Amino acid sequence: MESIAEYSAQSSEPGQPETGRPTTAPLLAVQRVDKRYPNGTVALEDVRLTIAPGEFVSLLGPSGCGKSTLLKMFAGIELPTHGHLRWWGQPFQTVGSPEHRMSMVFQEATLMPWATVAANVRLPLDLAHVPRREADARVADALAGVGLAKFGKALPRELSGGMQMRASLARALVTEPDLLLLDEPFGALDEFTRNRLDADLRALWQRRGMTVVFVTHSIYEAVYLSSRVVVMQARPGRIIAEVPIEGALERDDAHRVSVSFMQDCKTLSELITDANSASISAKETEVQS
Ligand SMILES: Nc1ncnc2c1ncn2[C@@H]1O[C@H](COP(=O)(O)OP(=O)(O)OP(=O)(O)O)[C@@H](O)[C@H]1O
Ligand SMILES: [Mg+2]
Repeated sequence: MESIAEYSAQSSEPGQPETGRPTTAPLLAVQRVDKRYPNGTVALEDVRLTIAPGEFVSLLGPSGCGKSTLLKMFAGIELPTHGHLRWWGQPFQTVGSPEHRMSMVFQEATLMPWATVAANVRLPLDLAHVPRREADARVADALAGVGLAKFGKALPRELSGGMQMRASLARALVTEPDLLLLDEPFGALDEFTRNRLDADLRALWQRRGMTVVFVTHSIYEAVYLSSRVVVMQARPGRIIAEVPIEGALERDDAHRVSVSFMQDCKTLSELITDANSASISAKETEVQS
């Protein structure tokens, strides 16, 4: 499939409302999606997933299992080779339109080095021609939300790695997205900074009532943050399990050493180990036959 127009034409269904958000539809639905890159790599096979408004979903899996590919599809940056994605029940022809309210945060903060932190955060509003006064108020609010209220006039190089990531988060939040997509955003940070940012991200999720999809390699991070963990496996990339994590709204720092936290980590760890063993013995059988 080569273009969004072609994709939309194939994925539209009769009887769907043209605009608006049907209250019964999930925010995002992934229906039997495959992704084969032009070089032949099958990044995803038969992926099915729905994400309800207000969920915090982590995509957990080893390198190469297609986490970033799936996240890019949610953002409309990549298109499936087969299957469909729906946004509030609508075909993805809404990508880039005002209804497709999502933001993405990457592993690097990707700030413009020559611009102040406030100017970096204001960028999406400038691109959307939001009047300067309103934009400045929203930037101040977004910076305060990530603990950078006093750093608007600083340049990115004057900030620590954790603070740069906070600025990147503020830039994603300033547009007030329905869906926040994060691709291993804290993977390059030390453990203390990462734990702090995890806690602050959770607080932001609760306060703003937004929906979050978070990519990580870390079982601990996935369990601490999420209301549901989607476990993926590589070659080809696919979903092997979905594990609900109870009590997402009541977590604090003490939760990281609680019995229920350890139990959830153990469940996920065993699931991943079992899946890996099954995949290794399947390959051995292939080689022998
Ligand atoms: N543009 C591309 N062209 C060809 N193959 C690609 C492309 N992007 C990703 N791939 C391949 O698709 C598979 C899935 O890649 P993807 O980046 O989605 O995995 P990932 O789970 O995010 O990995 P990581 O944890 O290392 O970031 C990999 O085998 C990768 O090499
Ligand atoms: Mg990736």
